Amino acid sequence: MLGNRLAKQLKHLRGWARAGGITCFRLYERDIPEFPAIVDWYDGDVVAWVYQRTRDDAPEKVRAFEDRCEEEILDGLQVAGARLHMKYRGRIRDRAEQYDRVDDRGVVKVVEEQGLRFEVNLSDYLDTGLFLDHRKTRSIIRHYAKGKRVLNLFAYTGSFTVYARAGGAAATTTVDMSKTYQEWTRRNLELNGFAVDGDAHRLVHSDCLQFLSEGPRPGEQYDYIVLDPPTFSNSKRMDAGSFAVDRDWPRLVELAVRWLADGGYLYFSTNSRQLKWLDELVPAGHVAREISERTVPDDFRNRRIHRCWTVTKSVSG
Ligand SMILES: C[S@@+](CC[C@H](N)C(=O)[O-])C[C@H]1O[C@@H](n2cnc3c(N)ncnc32)[C@H](O)[C@@H]1O
Repeated sequence: MLGNRLAKQLKHLRGWARAGGITCFRLYERDIPEFPAIVDWYDGDVVAWVYQRTRDDAPEKVRAFEDRCEEEILDGLQVAGARLHMKYRGRIRDRAEQYDRVDDRGVVKVVEEQGLRFEVNLSDYLDTGLFLDHRKTRSIIRHYAKGKRVLNLFAYTGSFTVYARAGGAAATTTVDMSKTYQEWTRRNLELNGFAVDGDAHRLVHSDCLQFLSEGPRPGEQYDYIVLDPPTFSNSKRMDAGSFAVDRDWPRLVELAVRWLADGGYLYFSTNSRQLKWLDELVPAGHVAREISERTVPDDFRNRRIHRCWTVTKSVSG
């Protein structure tokens, strides 16, 4: 079942992907209830996240199901074992934090996306370094970036910044709390011929809440702000102790709009399914518009993979 489904999806999406300059795309997301898994294609490699099923209530049953998934994926997609990278999500095995290293096989490659190049690590983390569901949002930023100032918060490996630079952004500030991801961002920029000069284009290693709370330097305003926080984050490096997007998004948006230039756009997005969006919680003098239908790519059958809003100053604001 799973194998046939994957073979069909790959055949169906390959032409579409090639036409769009896309080499990494989503093939499967829990389409068959018996197979709770996510399978992504990374330019000839396959990354699969297998979720534990309630019926597999013992380690040997969990193992047997995971082996079955592996066989079906290899058979369906006709890839060699070394090109399949399995990751397991579920109560028994899932002790790692989202952004912690979980392996050290170091399967790293450079992939192309819409004419740009990105380093992905297929083996060592729960995620790969490139969130495929924001491919269209990245394109929107590139489309409007010419001569603009862009602030990329919770930047991870800096893919939004790479797109902003490719679009001709005059200035970019890229903020993340992880040194590992800041170095990865630097490599992604260099892969596309962009340098970090530390002045117009800078990387800031900081807790975003602390960075935003300090407020902009005199005259520091941004035309585009990307605000894509994790669903949950707690680190001893955070003053606030922890961050939960469902609880803290109003405060975060309120802090971020202080950095927005007149006529500027804040892109706020979340993968949280629980977040309750309330317009009355949007900062005074600002209006929000949900644009998820524009930002969720066609290869994502799960149209709720993320939600995205633009927040702008209301004309009279
Ligand atoms: C969901 S990812 C962001 C994905 C990114 N926007 C992209 O499209 O590639 C969350 C990122 O937030 C970072 N992070 C988590 N808590 C943070 C905090 N308090 N301040 C700054 N960065 C934080 C993590 O290191 C991770 O890189």
